[in-house]
Amino acid sequence: MSAVRIAPSILSTDLGRLKEQLEAAEAGGAEWLHVDVMDGHFVPNLTFGAPIIRAVRKLSDLPIDVHLMVERPEQYITEYAELGITCFSFHPESTVHVQRHLAAIREHGMQAGLALNPSTPLSAISEVIPELDLVCVMSVNPGFGGQKYLPTATSKIARLKAMLDAAGSDATLEVDGGITVDTIAAAHAAGADTFVAGTAVFGRPDIAEAVRALVRACAVIV
Ligand code: DX5
Ligand code: ZN
Repeated sequence: MSAVRIAPSILSTDLGRLKEQLEAAEAGGAEWLHVDVMDGHFVPNLTFGAPIIRAVRKLSDLPIDVHLMVERPEQYITEYAELGITCFSFHPESTVHVQRHLAAIREHGMQAGLALNPSTPLSAISEVIPELDLVCVMSVNPGFGGQKYLPTATSKIARLKAMLDAAGSDATLEVDGGITVDTIAAAHAAGADTFVAGTAVFGRPDIAEAVRALVRACAVIV
């Protein structure tokens, strides 16, 4: 069984209480912070960009995992590298020269990731596996927090894990969307090691305990 890394998504924070909520997530054992950048074009919602990332960077020392749901994500590589981002992920449909941008992300000192929508086949990454530090299986259609985990994600995670192993890749296998104490065990058993969770962390009254509950739930046999 792989390790369990919880990456709380700040999409579900109360921005007025960001400091206290990030501290609570870290106290509960969160290892990464996930930031969902949306442009209102690639996905039907608009969130935040560099100013909020800068604020998160000031408030926490945890690695920041940025998930770009924007058209032409490459325009942010330099700026986000300067902000101290650890991992920069985008969607293969959002741009043309995916390989070039993955290489540029690494050249800027960040980990490079691709996120796959529920309808995007695993073949979308097959030619760039050596360029990838992370693959994110979307278990909801991106754009909003609080959606239900799509059960088809579980077999996709298992197939992706096999694909990465066969290619000799030790890329992080992340799952994003609808992760709760009821869905995390299946995703973990299938091979995911990093779990984005917004509502199930920041939507709970005790944020630290919510992170711990997700880690504990991975031990459940499915
Ligand atoms: C969806 C985002 C997710 C979202 C997860 O577009 O990529 O990261 O914040 O939220 P929950 O955990 O509430 O499904
Ligand atoms: Zn995300």
